[in-house]
Amino acid sequence: MVMTTRNPVPLSRHFAGLILVASVAFALTTATHSSRSEAFVEKSLLARSNVPEPVRAILQRACQDCHSENTIWPWYAHIPPISRQIHSDVQKGRAFMDLSKWNAYTEGERRGFRAAIGAAIQNHLMPPPKYVWMHSGARLSSDEIELVKAWALSKHKISPNTVQSQTQAKVGGHW
Ligand code: HEC
Repeated sequence: MVMTTRNPVPLSRHFAGLILVASVAFALTTATHSSRSEAFVEKSLLARSNVPEPVRAILQRACQDCHSENTIWPWYAHIPPISRQIHSDVQKGRAFMDLSKWNAYTEGERRGFRAAIGAAIQNHLMPPPKYVWMHSGARLSSDEIELVKAWALSKHKISPNTVQSQTQAKVGGHW
């Protein structure tokens, strides 16, 4: 009897301690990752579009902050005066082309965007160098540039380069 009444006390204390540790850890993770996880709630860019997966991954990595609704705002996006510049870039970027709405554009618009993307990437205008400076992960290799160009400048619905990846990605037809 003594054992059974005494045992639960230290155990529950242990348990309370664990909960405390766990909730502090949880609070810390949510605090540091809140803006990221919010944006990453499966809003995979260009989902259900006919953009081949490898190209999609590149656009998602290097362009979505300014050309989609999947913007991940860095901490300094809240600090004037740079916050103004960043919000203006995102606003202008989205206004020109919002990749979150890719499927809603007409076929002609998408063709126009592809041509513009090919030119902008080829000329190293996009992603903007100042952005790459702060987001080194957005830097594109020459292979990646070639890949996006092949897709962007292909005259036909599917370029030879993208056939394989399209089959792999099993995406539906939109153009
Ligand atoms: C830092 C934000 C930012 C990022 C990242 C970014 N863009 Fe832009 N993009 C802009 C802004 C701002 C404009 C200018 C819009 C305007 O002037 O109306 C623009 C314009 C463009 C244009 C039109 C250029 C023209 O004048 O013909 C294309 C095409 C484009 N972006 C493609 C891309 C692609 C592709 C990526 C990724 C590889 C990318 N952008 C990444 C901000 C960005």
